[in-house]
This record gives sequence, structure tokens and C-alpha cells, in this order.
Amino acid sequence: MVTGVRVALSRGPSRGTDGFDDMPLEGPLVDRYGRVHDDLRLSVTDRCNLRCVYCMPNEGMTFLPRQDILSFEEIERVSAVAHSLGVRSVRITGGEPLVRRGICDLVGRIARLGFDDVALTTNGTKLAGMAAELAEAGLRRVNISCDSLRPERFADIRRRGRMDVVLDSMDAAEAAGLTPLKVNVVLLRGRNDDEILDFAAFARDTGRVVRFIEYMPLDAEGHWSREQLVSGREVYERISAVWPLEAVSDPGDPAPADRYRFSDGNGEIGLISTVTEPFCGTCNRLRLTADGAVRNCLFSDAEHPVRDLLRGGGSDEDLAMLLRRAVWAKLPGHGINDPGFLRPARSMSMIGG
Ligand code: 5AD
Ligand code: SF4
Repeated sequence: MVTGVRVALSRGPSRGTDGFDDMPLEGPLVDRYGRVHDDLRLSVTDRCNLRCVYCMPNEGMTFLPRQDILSFEEIERVSAVAHSLGVRSVRITGGEPLVRRGICDLVGRIARLGFDDVALTTNGTKLAGMAAELAEAGLRRVNISCDSLRPERFADIRRRGRMDVVLDSMDAAEAAGLTPLKVNVVLLRGRNDDEILDFAAFARDTGRVVRFIEYMPLDAEGHWSREQLVSGREVYERISAVWPLEAVSDPGDPAPADRYRFSDGNGEIGLISTVTEPFCGTCNRLRLTADGAVRNCLFSDAEHPVRDLLRGGGSDEDLAMLLRRAVWAKLPGHGINDPGFLRPARSMSMIGG
């Protein structure tokens, strides 16, 4: 069952009278604040073979029943409609997308739709043996999560999986041309924040872009607290005290990471300061959950169920209207820092990172 708010769908050209009167019916996917949405995140499963402490409980995680998960045909259809509405880039996520059987087939289907960019975020445990096939199917690049460069600590944070396997997958990704390779590090105070400089050195040595991500209130166990978060500013200060950094300015790039290159030219890092420095003002993202809900924000519980349309004979125009309404309904910001903020009912692995 798709949880959340059901948005009344207007069939045909009628726009309704519920705040959608001004919604454009052609042109790109735009919201009330003028933000054009051209980036689609496809979560293809809520399952994962790891249990990272900032994401899932060690035991007892419940997963969606098989029949609720969109088929490849259904995902491809929504993606095609999104493409026709101006979406230019797609990222495939989970859960862990590589645990979904036949994922290379899905990558091929998405790539053939003609997006400028098709990328995938993975935990790196299954990538090594699949990298070449994924690249052949049309995948352009990958982000690999790796929260520690010390094997015991890696095991402590991610609870399953092995660090050396993930490091091997980085080599395999590069060998397959899935570059530039980005490495996602979620920092947790007192757990891995003493590795900030190690990761900076890793970025300098390998040329991989290490992205430090602030811990977000999206863990399934509800353990998030501001005290555990390590801010992007702190990361900047600690690294630049050793290796001076300079901002990489790319005004055309709405990516959430603040990019910095080492002043001596040896590599690049990214800071994803979702909580302390929200980038909502330039957000261009739209999400499709594995069970077929369109979401306009990680932190909003408003879901626009597309599965019923897909399985109930909805036309491509109906799908387009749903996507337009989902975007139009987007709030100006995630509100994490507002006193009344309520964490979303679904956690990261159920929404898609
Ligand atoms: N806070 C920040 N990042 C998270 N991720 C998963 N859960 C959280 C959280 N609570 C990250 C993963 C991966 C990406 C998909 O999201 O580490 O890099
Ligand atoms: Fe799995 Fe990614 Fe969640 Fe870790 S963060 S448990 S790898 S879905």
C-alpha cells in the first residue's frame, strides 16, 4: 500500500480549484516557486543487504510485498513520461538497487529513453562483478557509499558487508568507465568524524570525489539527533586547515554538494549540508518510490500514487498530469529546522536516497 496523502487527480485538461489553477499544462515541470524539475530519482527496491546504523535497524526491518513493487515496464513508462516533460537526468537508487534482480535490464531500458545522464547510487557490495555489464547497458557513473576506511569500523557502522569488497568495487567501477566516481560518507559524531582527514587524503590520492553527507532525520529507528550530526562547515574547516580548499563554482549545477577542490590541484571533495545549509531553493529533484509513489521532497510525506494509474488503465496524459501536480505541490523548503518539523513517516531506504 502506498501510504501518505492521496492527491485528487483531475482527469483531462481540468486543473481543479485546489490551488492548481495556475499550474502550467505544458513546458517543463515547474513548481510554484519557479524551480524547474529535471532530475528524477528512481528507487527500484526498498531492500538492502546492509543495515547501516543511520538507515535501518539491525533486525526486524519489514519490506514491501513483491506485488506492490513497480515492474520494470512500469518504471520505464513513468520515466518515459518524465523524459517527455523535460527530465534530463536519472539516478537509480534503493534501498540497494543492485539487489534487484535484472537491474542491468532496467538500466538499459532507462538509458534507451535518451536521458543526458543515467547514474546509480550503490553500497558497493555487489558492484564489482556487475560494473562492466552496467556500463554496457548505458549507465554513465556511480556513487558508492563507504563510511569508514577502517575495516572494523566499517563493519560497526554498516553492520554487514566488507570494506575490501567495497574498495574493490571502486576499482571495478573505474575500470568500467563509470566515472567520475563519487564516494558518499555519512558522518556521525563520535563514530567516524575522526576520519575526515583520512577521507580527504583518500580523495587526494585516488582522484575520487569524496562527499561528506550530514546525517539526516531519515533513519528507520528514529535515533537521529542534531548532536550526532557533523556539519559541512566543520568538515570544511578541519580539511582546509591542513589542505587549503577553493570553491568550484558551477552556477549551472543544481547538485546539492558544495564542491571544493584542493588548492594544489590534487582532487576534489563535496559537502552535502542538507540540514545546516538547506539547498531547497535550487532543488530540481523528483522521486519515484519502489512502490510507485511520486514524492517531491525527501522530507515531505505527501505522496502522489502513480501505481494505481499505471495498473488502472491511466493514459500517459494522466501520468503527466500526476507528475505536474506532484511538482506544483512542492513546498519551498524541507523545514527540518522549523520548531514544528515532523520527521517523514518513511525512512531513507523506503524513499530512495
Ligand atoms: N542521513 C544521511 N544520509 C543517509 N543515507 C542513508 N541514510 C541516511 C541518513 N539518515 C545515504 C547513504 C547513501 C545515500 C543513498 O544516502 O549513505 O550514500
Ligand atoms: Fe542499505 Fe544504503 Fe540503507 Fe546502508 S544506507 S542500509 S547500504 S540502503
